[in-house]
Formats: sequence, C-alpha cells, structure tokens
Amino acid sequence: MSSRDPSLSLPEPPSELLALSEQLCTRIVKAIEADGFLSFDAYMSMALYEPGLGYYVNGLHKFGASGDFVTAPEQGRLFARSLARQIDELGAELDEDWTLLELGAGSGALARDLLQSLDAAPARYLILEPSAALRAVQQETLSALDEQLQARVEWIATPPEEDFEGVVLANEVLDALPVRAFEIGEQQVLERGVELRQGQLQWTSRPAGPRLVEAVKALQASLSAPLPVGYRSEINLDLAAWLETVTRPLARGLALMIDYGYPRREYYHPDRSEGTLVCHYRHRAHFDPFVWPGLTDLSSFVDFTAVAEAGADAGLDVLGFSSQAGFLLSLGIQDALASARDEREHLALAGEIKRLTLPAEMGEKFKVIALGRGLDLPLRGFSLMDQLARL
Ligand SMILES: C[S@@+](CC[C@H](N)C(=O)[O-])C[C@H]1O[C@@H](n2cnc3c(N)ncnc32)[C@H](O)[C@@H]1O
Repeated sequence: MSSRDPSLSLPEPPSELLALSEQLCTRIVKAIEADGFLSFDAYMSMALYEPGLGYYVNGLHKFGASGDFVTAPEQGRLFARSLARQIDELGAELDEDWTLLELGAGSGALARDLLQSLDAAPARYLILEPSAALRAVQQETLSALDEQLQARVEWIATPPEEDFEGVVLANEVLDALPVRAFEIGEQQVLERGVELRQGQLQWTSRPAGPRLVEAVKALQASLSAPLPVGYRSEINLDLAAWLETVTRPLARGLALMIDYGYPRREYYHPDRSEGTLVCHYRHRAHFDPFVWPGLTDLSSFVDFTAVAEAGADAGLDVLGFSSQAGFLLSLGIQDALASARDEREHLALAGEIKRLTLPAEMGEKFKVIALGRGLDLPLRGFSLMDQLARL
C-alpha cells in the first residue's frame, strides 16, 4: 500500500518490518475510507504515533549511527555541555529547587549529559515523553547516572499541574508535531491530504475548511507578497495551543526550543514552493511521506516566527533567536578543545564542534529560540548573535 518511486535509492527493510508498516497502512486506509480523504496532519499523526505501530512508538531503533538520523545530543557531549552553561547562568537566578522540563527526550542522551554537566543540577528533571517505547530507552540511558541524580528524574504524561521556576527544553520536538498541508489554488485555498489510489497512498486535495483558510489568509497577510497559485507548504494549526500547554506551568524561567527551521519570510519564500516536509530512513533524506509509514521519520521545518507569536500569545517574552552555531559559539563550545587530553581527543572534539556549528552541517539550518517569563537578564547564548529582527 505504501508506494515507492524506484528512483529513490533506499535500502529495502527486512520483511518483518515491511509487515509492520503494512499493518499501519491498513489502519491508515481505514481512516481514509471514513470520508475518502485523510488530512495530512491526521496522516502524520498516525505515521508517527499510531499506538504500537507509529514511527516514535513502535520500539524500533531511531537515533544514532544504526538508526535513521543523528540529533545534536547524539553527536557527543558538547551540545549538552554548552546548554548547561546557559542553564547554569539561569539556575543561579531561580528558586534553589528549580525544575527542568524536557519535552520529547529521544534516547535520553541530552538528559544524561545535562545532568552530568550542570554545575547545579535541578531539583527535578521532568521528561514529558509520549512514547512508551522511548521512555524505556530513556530509562536505560539514565541508569548510567549516579543514584542521587537518577532520583531527580521523573517521567510525566502531561505538563505538571503545579507551577515551577525553571527551564522548558525541546530539541527537535517542534519538527515532529503534525502539520496541515495546503496548496494555493486558482480560486481558493486547497487542503492537501491522503487518498488511496490504485492501491497506493497518494496525495490528493480538496477545498480547505474555514480554519485552514483563515490561517493561510493570515499567513499571506504577513508576507511581503502573496503566495502564487500552485504554491504548496505546511502550517501547524495547533502550535499555539501546544506551546501554551507545555509552558503554562513555567511561573518564571526560560523555554528553549531548538530545531531546523526559518523565520516566516524565509519559510514561505517563493522558491520553497514544494514545502518543507522531509523524511528520514537510514540516514537518507527524501520527500515522499508515503514510503514505509512507521519505518520512516516524517518532519517539517519550523516557522520560528509562528513560535515567537505563539510564545507571545502564551504570555512569554521572546528573548533571543539565533542560529545553532551562534548560540553554541556564544556559550563557548570551542573551549572544550583546550581540555583535550591528547591529539585523538582533540580531533574528535573538533569534529563534533564542526558538525554542530558549520553552516553546511547543523550550524545554520538549526535555530534556537528563547522564550522567557519574569526574567530580566541577558542570555549568554545570544551574546555573539541575536537575530530577533529576522523573525
Ligand atoms: C526527533 S526526536 C528528538 C529527540 C531528542 N530531543 C533529541 O534531540 O535527540 C522527537 C522527540 O519528540 C517526542 N515528541 C513527539 N511529539 C511530542 C509531543 N507532542 N510532546 C512531547 N514530545 C513529543 C518524540 O517521541 C521524540 O522523543
């Protein structure tokens, strides 16, 4: 049921994994049959989170060399160590029993390395992770910590009810949130979704409903020129509600979100007329979201202007926006080289710094946004480069 363009040179999954993907396809087809059309956000949600079968919940390996992609915390420890410098600076200003809430902790590498790198660890390190399979991976990773640090970690299913002072952290979580897909039609905005044609999952479109039409209208009004007919892209209609929910308990402190994305004008640039969806399978990136659902990571780039607006709507101050390179270099990631014990370690650290900061690697594609509440201090992570004016 999942189609594959033969020109895509992807390694064929083993038959048991293909069977798992087929099972998920069967459920997707049922959802399509309910009204002949499945919104792309509903498809993305099933492909990533359908119980037992979706990409993030099916228990197959995702991260690192043997997975599908490598995130910054999986490159080594320098990303966490740099973040720790920013968080330590802030922790000193907060209640002594401050809390760190990490959203979507993946393999748990960032949690482990942060807890080991912070000068003063938070009283509580909460992990909000919707995937039971990933929670188990995180528990295994964090079992490497000493008991005193392990005791601070708690897994939660929803944001805490009670307020806290502290930090909310999300690395590569925004890109995994389901998005609507749209196209500018001759007469009207079209919603792009999924149908079953000739036994295959395929793109289709229909006139957009009022919520999507309004959102695209508002988007067009904020751009310097209207999007041309035929232009396709994505929009996250639930971003503001999501951001408000995850930052509501933050009485005082900082929300740091790191992800690949652009300010709005660049996101909806006329040249990006096919949108920003990207799929990862075994370290190959491709653009067909219907290839092997459940086995393939699906994501879209982040509109950071929308994140800033959602933050402001949630009563947060937009305190900083920078490329990942600007942020990590401001925090002195390069200082690690001085502590290398030998030539080999020096080379490894230099390689890691390059991967995290070079423009052709993660340095420019990834951005960092800081949203604060009740804070009145300059953030070191934006001292060399603050690009708020680009949003
Ligand atoms: C691309 S992985 C990033 C993992 C990790 N932060 C890292 O940098 O390696 C996306 C993570 O976000 C989680 N996630 C997806 N939707 C989420 C949501 N609505 N709230 C919190 N976490 C979510 C996934 O289960 C997964 O752990």
